[in-house]
Amino acid sequence: MLSPAEGHSTALSPFAAPHGVDGALVSFLHDCTGLLGRWLAEAADQGVRPLLSLQPPAEPEVGPLSEQRLLSDLQGLMGGAFRPNHPGALAHLDPPALTVSMAAELLAAGLNNNLLAEELSPSLSRLERGLCRWLAQRLGLGPRASGVPASGGSLSNLMALVCARRAAGLAHDPRAVVVAAAGAHVSLAKALGVMGLPADALVAVPAGDDGRLDPALVADTLRHLHRQGRPVLALVGTAGTTVQGLVDPLADLADLCRDHGLWFHVDGAIGAVCALVDDHRWRVRGLERADSVTLNPQKLLGVSKPSSLLLLRDPTHLEASFATGLPYMEAPLGGVQGGELGLQGTRGAEVLKLWLCLRHLGLTGISDLIGAAMARAASLRSALAGSDLSCLAGDLHLVAIAAPNGSHDRHGWRDTAHALLLREGFWLSRPDVAGQPLLKAVFGNPYTSPQHIQRLAELLRSTSSAEVSR
Ligand SMILES: Cc1ncc(COP(=O)(O)O)c(C=O)c1O
Repeated sequence: MLSPAEGHSTALSPFAAPHGVDGALVSFLHDCTGLLGRWLAEAADQGVRPLLSLQPPAEPEVGPLSEQRLLSDLQGLMGGAFRPNHPGALAHLDPPALTVSMAAELLAAGLNNNLLAEELSPSLSRLERGLCRWLAQRLGLGPRASGVPASGGSLSNLMALVCARRAAGLAHDPRAVVVAAAGAHVSLAKALGVMGLPADALVAVPAGDDGRLDPALVADTLRHLHRQGRPVLALVGTAGTTVQGLVDPLADLADLCRDHGLWFHVDGAIGAVCALVDDHRWRVRGLERADSVTLNPQKLLGVSKPSSLLLLRDPTHLEASFATGLPYMEAPLGGVQGGELGLQGTRGAEVLKLWLCLRHLGLTGISDLIGAAMARAASLRSALAGSDLSCLAGDLHLVAIAAPNGSHDRHGWRDTAHALLLREGFWLSRPDVAGQPLLKAVFGNPYTSPQHIQRLAELLRSTSSAEVSR
């Protein structure tokens, strides 16, 4: 226990002095990185889901707290945090953070530059413009392509639809709709609500037999909407659905958009990173024909959250949709002010971690990282082949598993299997697709070894035989 005096005396000043190295700051950062290093190192010895931990008080005390007290509170909080680097943490699209990303977050916080305006982030604004251009062109969106970072994929999708609506001349038309798959991400419905459109503005096309958007059904839907006099502001294809990791037939959807004169948005929050490297671009074929793409390096790549971008074939749509003028800022030396390119005003230097991570990995590192995640998913699929369990179709590093054939209580099976797996150190999530209960595993963690995957498959198989022999 800390004595009250120890708990309250602090050598750390609120702000680092601008002359001479601030020893108290350096030592506090050192202690914090030590804490983080230990937290990361102990994950495999902990439960896959945190137990209730000693939660520190949420509110400040009257006086300042000492560094020791801050560190011990931090330790309590970290004890109750989700550990994405646990080898059995497979439930969601939340991989461990890349090491370089952690360091970059620290540096970005210290720099505290503001990507709103170039005068508040001179080198970082230039870096952001350069990296957005590189990313968009690497996706194949054309020589003028670029974009803007956004705080998460939901915001990227919202901004894409705002651009699409304006470009279609439908900004004030309450009958305008968006066409997407029934399994497309919930952020689309949220976006349309924010845009002031009614609930039926999201026209959900039922999945084809393979779970992906069926271009023939989309064409029927477009004809039907035309007859009803409902103008379409965008067609959305998904490169990696949230539950199964399915990639829609993007090239066919692009053809439809060309034929009907529609904006083609690809929600590539999960899968668009594949288009960054030659070895994996085929997984998202047709993405290069999009007008706009949402890409989340925070998912498969492991850049720490938030890291998302909206990339456009013609980035002038961003300024046309969002610029208001920044009369209190000096004009930028090149390009458009960061705050004029989207809904956010003040933005932190998310670009710093993305840039550092991409440079650290290199193209071969990105390719290997994606390939290894895909290989882990494929190895679970093959380890379950021939069992009573069926894996749903999937194109990326996700595996959605359905109840055993002939199961009488599919929800019961899922809950039993989920609990058994948790006891054995594996956490899978429990999504439903079209009323069908599933277990979902996402293989974004490089420390999920072949042995872990074999063990997971054995456990899953055991739940299936128990269910079938009932
Ligand atoms: C396909 C897809 N699109 C968009 C999003 C939204 O991204 P975010 O959670 O960063 O807002 C997600 C999140 O999982 C997603 O899976």
